[in-house]
Amino acid sequence: MCGIVGYAGERTNEDVVDVLLDGLSRLEYRGYDSAGLAVANSSISVVKRRGELSALEEAVPADDLEGFAGIGHTRWSTHGPPTDANAHPHTDCDGTVAVVHNGIIENYQPLRDELEAEGHEFDSETDTEVVPHLIERALDRGDDVETAFRRTIDRLEGSYAVAAVCADRETVYAARQQSPLVLGVGDDGYFLASDVPAFLEYTDEVVYLEDGQFASIRSSGVEITDESGAIVDVPVETVDWDPEDAGKSGYDHYMLKEIHEQPRAIRKCLRGRPRALEGTVSIDELDDVPRPERVHLVACGTSYHAALYGARLFRERGIPATAALASEYAVDAYPVDDGTLVVGVTQSGETADTMRALRDAGGRGARTLAVTNVVGSSAARECDHVLYIRAGPEISVAATKTFTSQQVALAMLSSALADARSREFVEALRALPDRLQSVLDDSRAREIADEYVDADAYFFVGRGYAAPVAREGALKMKEISYRYAEGFPAGEFKHGPLALITDRTPVFAVINREANAEKMLGNVKEVASRGAPVIAVTDAPEAVGHHADHVLRVPDTHWRFTPILANVQLQLVAYWVANRLGRSIDKPRNLAKSVTVE
Ligand code: M6R
Repeated sequence: MCGIVGYAGERTNEDVVDVLLDGLSRLEYRGYDSAGLAVANSSISVVKRRGELSALEEAVPADDLEGFAGIGHTRWSTHGPPTDANAHPHTDCDGTVAVVHNGIIENYQPLRDELEAEGHEFDSETDTEVVPHLIERALDRGDDVETAFRRTIDRLEGSYAVAAVCADRETVYAARQQSPLVLGVGDDGYFLASDVPAFLEYTDEVVYLEDGQFASIRSSGVEITDESGAIVDVPVETVDWDPEDAGKSGYDHYMLKEIHEQPRAIRKCLRGRPRALEGTVSIDELDDVPRPERVHLVACGTSYHAALYGARLFRERGIPATAALASEYAVDAYPVDDGTLVVGVTQSGETADTMRALRDAGGRGARTLAVTNVVGSSAARECDHVLYIRAGPEISVAATKTFTSQQVALAMLSSALADARSREFVEALRALPDRLQSVLDDSRAREIADEYVDADAYFFVGRGYAAPVAREGALKMKEISYRYAEGFPAGEFKHGPLALITDRTPVFAVINREANAEKMLGNVKEVASRGAPVIAVTDAPEAVGHHADHVLRVPDTHWRFTPILANVQLQLVAYWVANRLGRSIDKPRNLAKSVTVE
């Protein structure tokens, strides 16, 4: 939702500012309606601006800021609109403490009332601003900074990752509770961030903080303590992400780069898991997971579409499975017991709705498993089991390569847990990266986008395994082009949406030769006869014949994987429509990469 960075080390002055700005630029995907930073010296210097990071960069004084330790923040507003005043960092009355925060402080109103009654003056509408004032009060009462910070954190309810600096201290103080925070151990200092890419160009040595832990970083080292204040010995892990993964590598947008990274992403996802000779899939880290009696997949947005696809695979393997929107899962009161495996599909591993569903199900006795991209994320740490999709960092708000990797991971998971045996399936899995590459090498998506960029609305339909991909095609289109789009199972057309069909509403139909092709052609005829342009996304152009105005080719593969490849064509169509419209593709309005509020 928001992005936090921090640095303390041997770098000083403008170097600290550069580290913070670099880090924020890598975290902009987490929020981008305002940004700010603070550096600590004998006083605290704060600069913050409404708008994208470039507004902050312009506002940083030419002679830079003097400081030894600093914190920065990129915001996705929850409490109060995006304004300079609501941007982080927030300070106390004297301006000697500065704080950045990601998450929600649920009890901020009573805390604020209490502090205002004591004479503290607030400048913003945020929940965060109570934190520097609480620290100030504790300092005024005689606490040292560390104790004041700890005492403050003890008063907070909700989810937070908090970082603070204080005048005259070359230290960044941090704490987390249900919001991500990771430390980087560099040669010349220590880093703090909501996500690893923020400091990946400086170090790949990381420490994932746990809920309830406190960290203080300074040039002489890091100290991590638990709730009682006892020092915790934490493992330093090495991440295998390439710094280049977090850059644009010459592409105009991260989204386009990430679309093109998909063959590599799924190669990594597959590595060591399919067994070609036996026709099985073996996932070493899940060896101790018994065959579940039933599976509930919980997820949001794009990940929910992957969950819909995965649930079908489980069912076909004989394991009853259902996919639920995480935000509705608890409401719908799905019964669970110890034979139920609840799979949280979440690329970030931090989505609040998904985390709530997982915690709720785990608390009621279900076994939980996270399918996630982010090592050390909340989902990875809190679930009983974790399956990493290994897609590498995804910066664009619109999920692309992680969706593809989630589908591949769920295909493997369902095979492994059901002990399925099919050489054809496993060989097709292994061939997927090359097939996907051929879609990228030979796509006419840009031409289609050019032709239909002025459409009134876009419809996406499919059946069976292709239905989730139809939903995903529409989500991608609305997310980045801001155009009206709907995606649903094709059979539903005649039950309502057909009323919207005109010659200005192109219909993208995912047609799979071996799955419902005839029925899909029936649906295509329904819309074509009412004037809609039809774009068939298909492995069977010969069967589609003159019923479609255009064809986007999908190479031959196992029929269950055809939609995975078809989706890549739809990603490209959405990208090129948004590109023609000049949209902010990587940072679409109102959206954030990681949604840590329910
Ligand atoms: O990190 P998650 O996979 O849990 O995120 C879930 C959704 O917020 C996410 O998929 C969202 O729909 C994307 N912006 C889609 O492109």
